[in-house]
Amino acid sequence: MTKDPESPRYDPKDDPKVTTASEAAAKGDIPNELPPETATITFHQRLERNATLLLAASFAVVTIGGIVEIAPLFWLENTIEEVEGMRPYTPLELAGREIYVREGCYVCHSQMIRPMRDEVERYGHYSLAAESMWDHPFQWGSKRTGPDLARVGGRYSDEWHVDHLTDPQSVVPESVMPVYAFLGETPVTGEHVDDLLRTHRFVGVPYTDEMVAAARADFRVQADPEGDWGGLVERYGEAVQVRNFDGRPGLTEMDALIAYLQMLGTLVDFSTFESEPVLEAAVQE
Ligand code: HEC
Repeated sequence: MTKDPESPRYDPKDDPKVTTASEAAAKGDIPNELPPETATITFHQRLERNATLLLAASFAVVTIGGIVEIAPLFWLENTIEEVEGMRPYTPLELAGREIYVREGCYVCHSQMIRPMRDEVERYGHYSLAAESMWDHPFQWGSKRTGPDLARVGGRYSDEWHVDHLTDPQSVVPESVMPVYAFLGETPVTGEHVDDLLRTHRFVGVPYTDEMVAAARADFRVQADPEGDWGGLVERYGEAVQVRNFDGRPGLTEMDALIAYLQMLGTLVDFSTFESEPVLEAAVQE
């Protein structure tokens, strides 16, 4: 069967005649005319059939869309609302945060409370952009095998954290969290912590020269309540928690990680924060 009139195998019976609307109307038939060709359709047919042209046109469309999304951000005064209480991490907390990232805690834990009732009731005030302003990279996460940790600071005692990290099932029998007991046996010296601070300063965290210079001392003294931690508190504020986090002699990765966990979400004083009425209404609803 062929529709090519030139071919010897051509049989006009095989070629359904295309009736136009007027012919069909005269015979009382249903027209099977091809759709009318308008300028737009012709143009689009050409575009769809020419890969290069289609690629160039898609690129133009995506570019315009991108500019429309991104450009306003350059003119906005500030995309982060100001809040009181935010400070850069202390050297020990920052080292703990490095351990958090290294161990992939973010694979199972988010640090971002969404402004929805169930989340706010469970975890506390929804997260503000300013709270992760000094996080490089941010730890919002995208998976919650375990609970959100954005406000876990102060929720449990240090001993609970030691027990939980050493053997999660000992405190939460049904837990699927892995064992991190080795953290308690891995000493940390903080010998490169000043470089860590410098790196974070390089990406915009406002560590002062003084903070960098005192980094190693601040690192050790935060876990040593007997030490001279006056300078640490002067540099990072009254809210800095100074104590032996793992309750054992010596400075281990456990100390650093717990120092970090115990300050998460504790910095902003929400009694002084006024949120957008729209969000507030959504939360209280
Ligand atoms: C395989 C997934 C997984 C990984 C990886 C993981 N956790 Fe968990 N975590 C959980 C689960 C599940 C829970 C809830 C049960 C429990 O409390 O153990 C939990 C609970 C917690 C809690 C208690 C939170 C609360 O509000 O009750 C803390 C704190 C915590 N994890 C810290 C960490 C830290 C720090 C790391 C990295 C060193 C980590 N987790 C790695 C799964 C994980």
